Amino acid sequence: MFQAPLLDGIPQDIAAVADYAAYARRRLDDNAWAYLEGAAGDELTRGWNRAAFDRRTLLPRVMADVAGGHCRTTLLGRELPLPVLLAPVAWQKLFHPDGELATAYTASALGAGMVLSTLASCSIEDVAAAAQQGGNGPRWFQLYLQPERQLNEELVRRAEAAGYEAIVFTVDAPLNGIRNREQRVGFQLPAGIEAVNLRRPLDPNDRAGFELRQRSLAEKRKQRGPSNVFDDLMCHAPTWKDLEWLLATTRLPVVVKGVLHPDDAVRAVDLGAASIVVSNHGGRTLDTLPASLDALPAIAERLFGRVPILLDGGIQRGSDIFKAIALGASAVLIGRPYIHALAAAGPFGIAHVLRLLQDELEATMALCGVDRLDRISTDFLKDPSFRRIDA
Ligand SMILES: Cc1cc2nc3c(=O)[nH]c(=O)nc-3n(C[C@H](O)[C@H](O)[C@H](O)COP(=O)(O)O)c2cc1C
Repeated sequence: MFQAPLLDGIPQDIAAVADYAAYARRRLDDNAWAYLEGAAGDELTRGWNRAAFDRRTLLPRVMADVAGGHCRTTLLGRELPLPVLLAPVAWQKLFHPDGELATAYTASALGAGMVLSTLASCSIEDVAAAAQQGGNGPRWFQLYLQPERQLNEELVRRAEAAGYEAIVFTVDAPLNGIRNREQRVGFQLPAGIEAVNLRRPLDPNDRAGFELRQRSLAEKRKQRGPSNVFDDLMCHAPTWKDLEWLLATTRLPVVVKGVLHPDDAVRAVDLGAASIVVSNHGGRTLDTLPASLDALPAIAERLFGRVPILLDGGIQRGSDIFKAIALGASAVLIGRPYIHALAAAGPFGIAHVLRLLQDELEATMALCGVDRLDRISTDFLKDPSFRRIDA
């Protein structure tokens, strides 16, 4: 599975976050690489995520006094050293033998936030223990609604008991995107890597109940029509009622991930969501969705500061974070970039990625004449026509 040894130091030619990709490629086999890099269809949205940052230009103010500035922020009651969280990424043992344990340890050691996927290859509790060993960074749990509904509540309770501080409800991936790159290599999870938190029955005494529930699911499927999408997968897709259920079930703040339309953002917040993530899942679900950054301004305008808005998709530079904040985000998440670093250099690599982003964000702020994140605004973007692009 791993084709080259882990780096034991940071070579000189890794000067930017994107430099990790080539090292990760050398280390990972075609199977893992296709899963990590793949996006839906022609992968246009994935490219647009990046292009949306590149085509916005900064407009600096000179001679501002920014001594004593910083890029710390507070999110859902927790202070973060920089406005970056590690996005939920499934099955991290594909990329490093310690998988999510390595990610959690490093994020926590740096005080950075980490979101653990429902499809993690390490247990909710083991990841919490690794995070505690590392330090005191916040950890959130990401929920993919499970067809077996009782399992959802169990997952939420386990996350609460293990000290996760928010539930991230991902609503944009009720079915797998059609990812041709994975199809072309015949992607398969290697033996020994699985979504361990979904193993059932957790309680050996509940085997009878488990089998009963499986039979009733199979029965329901038989009664439906022939479409794999509408008659099967979408029957278990999250709905607004499920969000209401989740909000009523957990005492933790709920963050809704995968929103692109302002009406959906407003509805989620009206129901009680504590935050939303403007995201197209890194382009992995449906191709030709808009770039997340292009969807952000209209959402920010409608939410009008009611909740913090997060954004992911395409972020590779500190200046990207600056632009996202200028257009209305409070913080961002990164996905593939930290996994590249995990694959190439383990915990070390993730720490380096966070350091590079912090250095670049601080330099961008200082050179634009801004000393604090809450002073970043569209005034620092050059072309006003780029300020608002409707979703
Ligand atoms: C390999 C991979 C696995 C992912 N798994 C999940 C997941 O389990 N849950 C989820 O909500 N998002 C998942 N995502 C989406 C990320 O959380 C995030 O939205 C996306 O990676 C951001 O784009 P970026 O990779 O350009 O930073 C995954 C992304 C990748 C690349």
